[in-house]
Amino acid sequence: MYRKKIGILTSGGDCSGLNCVIRAAYLRSKALGYSLIGIKRGLRGLIERPANIVELNNEICNDSLLTKSGSILLSNTKALAKNNGEQYTNEECTELVVGGYHSLGLSGLIFIGGDGSISLLNRLLIKNSELNVVVIPKTIDNDVPETDIAIGFSTVVEVVSEAIANIRTTAASHERSVVVEVMGRDAGFIAMYAGVAAGADIILTPEFKYDAIKLIENVQKCYASGKDHCVIVVAEAVESATFKAEKNYNGVGEYVASILKHNGFDVRTVVLGHTQRGGKTSVIDRIVGSAFGVTAVNLINSDNSGVMLSYARGELKPIPLSLISGVDNKKLSKNDVCVRIARDFGVYIGENVVNEDKV
Ligand code: F6P
Repeated sequence: MYRKKIGILTSGGDCSGLNCVIRAAYLRSKALGYSLIGIKRGLRGLIERPANIVELNNEICNDSLLTKSGSILLSNTKALAKNNGEQYTNEECTELVVGGYHSLGLSGLIFIGGDGSISLLNRLLIKNSELNVVVIPKTIDNDVPETDIAIGFSTVVEVVSEAIANIRTTAASHERSVVVEVMGRDAGFIAMYAGVAAGADIILTPEFKYDAIKLIENVQKCYASGKDHCVIVVAEAVESATFKAEKNYNGVGEYVASILKHNGFDVRTVVLGHTQRGGKTSVIDRIVGSAFGVTAVNLINSDNSGVMLSYARGELKPIPLSLISGVDNKKLSKNDVCVRIARDFGVYIGENVVNEDKV
């Protein structure tokens, strides 16, 4: 029997909650009489011939997906790379992706991606309104514009705050300072939210410039307060006049620790790295992920496309993809609730707002 088909893929760096979206989209597709086609390795699955796909079913989309991190459909950050190492041009890629979409007879495509993948999609879609695409924002960095929540952010905050709590007990036993370097690309959401949730003493993010003297004074303040240890959370893209983050965003944790060592503190550095992309999917990511998956299928079923789902101010709604095309990534605002709490707690978060106009 011929059934209408919807495609679904995950693009860019993985995060927790992707599988939950896939499960929700599958359940809703089934209820509306569609088959859901999983496209493997992001857009690469549509570029390959034959397209690299798997038809999703009850067995694949079982309830364990609610909490399972990673992507059962695989993901990648190199959609434009050819097998021989060369790059496809945007035009070549568009042609292949559109061809793959049509060869599968899709009625629509659910594209789960972060800022990099969404801008790639926007570039490819410019001349191709024929693709019915609904984008679901995901990223641990939480930097996708026009949505308060991206899938994966809530879980990473749980994972990082749990790690900080574990680090705090050993820091306290040894009366040490520990610098915890966290991911987040050019935004400080992970550092600020997990830092506040775990009671960090100092939180440094790329959005706010820190002053090395004030940093040392605040570590001293920590010890003087009777705490006898200090937990400093540093976002990977923090830079200073003398430290420029390496291309791979590594190293600022060691640099901040070296300032403290130089001033006589017993200090250790922990780089949480890719542990941040795992963990049991949080309840918020499960709920929002389920809502995103179901709504994406409903939109395709009612012929709505060219949109990204946004969850902002408690409301889930589609916004035109054109609204976020070419828009800068979201950054921590000086009015962000966690920034305010941190300041009110007396946590040192740096001095001035960088790029005042953008925050
Ligand atoms: O964008 C998500 C993210 O996890 C960033 O926080 C981090 O800088 C980057 O991806 C790491 O990418 P990769 O897995 O390619 O090293």
